[in-house]
Amino acid sequence: MIRAAITAVAGNLPETVLSNKDLEKIVDTTDEWIITRTGIKERRIEKDLNKATSDVAVPAVLELCRKRGISPEEIDLLICGTVTPDMMFPSTSNLICAKIGAKNAWGFDLTAACSGFIFGISTGSQFIMTGKYKKVVVVGIDLMTRILNWEDRSTCVIFGDGGGAVLLEPTEEEVGIMDFVLHADGNGGTNLNMRGGGSRFPASHDTVENKMHYVYQEGQSVFKHAIYSMAEVSADIMKRNNLKAEDITWLVPHQANKRIVDGTANKMGIGPEKVMMNIERYGNTTAGTIPLLLWDYEKQLKKGDNLVISAFGGGFTWGSVFVKWAYDGSKYGK
Ligand code: UT7
Repeated sequence: MIRAAITAVAGNLPETVLSNKDLEKIVDTTDEWIITRTGIKERRIEKDLNKATSDVAVPAVLELCRKRGISPEEIDLLICGTVTPDMMFPSTSNLICAKIGAKNAWGFDLTAACSGFIFGISTGSQFIMTGKYKKVVVVGIDLMTRILNWEDRSTCVIFGDGGGAVLLEPTEEEVGIMDFVLHADGNGGTNLNMRGGGSRFPASHDTVENKMHYVYQEGQSVFKHAIYSMAEVSADIMKRNNLKAEDITWLVPHQANKRIVDGTANKMGIGPEKVMMNIERYGNTTAGTIPLLLWDYEKQLKKGDNLVISAFGGGFTWGSVFVKWAYDGSKYGK
């Protein structure tokens, strides 16, 4: 049986750090409130307005190729999970491919908000498992600060910019993407969205005046759905694969709120030492959080480690992916 293995991971973050203290000067908030309610201490922000999502993705994808010793021309397919594409079209995937010279690849953007990366690796894995492709790149990246209302303290303190990418390649070993469970419920669109700029509310003076080109979130409602759904879908993937809490080497949870992560881990019976976390440094980078976690923890990952990757986000979208890590990360991690 052919499986899709993650054979390399890379990330990229803008250099500028925006701390909670900096935010205290912009909106009516405090460092203490943000840390207590979310776990975030600082986030990155791409201040250079000449740089869009594809520009921040390019160094990550090139680093991926360098780490694996392949040329961009060898990439068959590039899927980009993002809700902050450079523009409505062409796709950010196409722009990344053009910039890196991946001239033999096709690709598309995948709109699943915080679940963009797990939807992306699940989709990409199918092209590998059928034998159709040998090299699929999945990017998860967002420049959330480009769609934040800096007068809305309930959203502008949560999000940050950045993301990463993985390479999927075929393997016949007992490693790789072993299983996934994905869900979506468009009814959740009323709780978390950006309404302006599409065919329902094309950009106009009204949409700008009514702040419809910014993230809108009903925080408490999203929180309740997130904590319930992440725990439920993680339990589901464990049951389907006969995994007990002690079999899991790492829980890799989307980084929206430390309290959501803690609640999910608790329900799974997993201690904090087995939970990948970096929300304190990057905030919520939407589709970027999971590749950034894998990049940050790569050095600690060993071949055969059992990873349960879980996410919940706008859509609503949510799911879990069971991955058996395919290589010894100590040689490659930062
Ligand atoms: O990744 C995509 C999915 N998104 C999520 O999973 C996010 C889920 N939601 C959350 O993480 C949390 O709901 C938030 C972090 C967004 C908000 O935390 P909360 O504990 O649910 O706060 P709340 O909305 O219930 O607000 C509590 C209080 C309110 O004041 P009053 O009405 O009690 O006086 C807010 O106005 O906190 C106030 N508040 C703030 N105070 C200081 C809201 N934002 C802030 C802030 N600084 N930045």
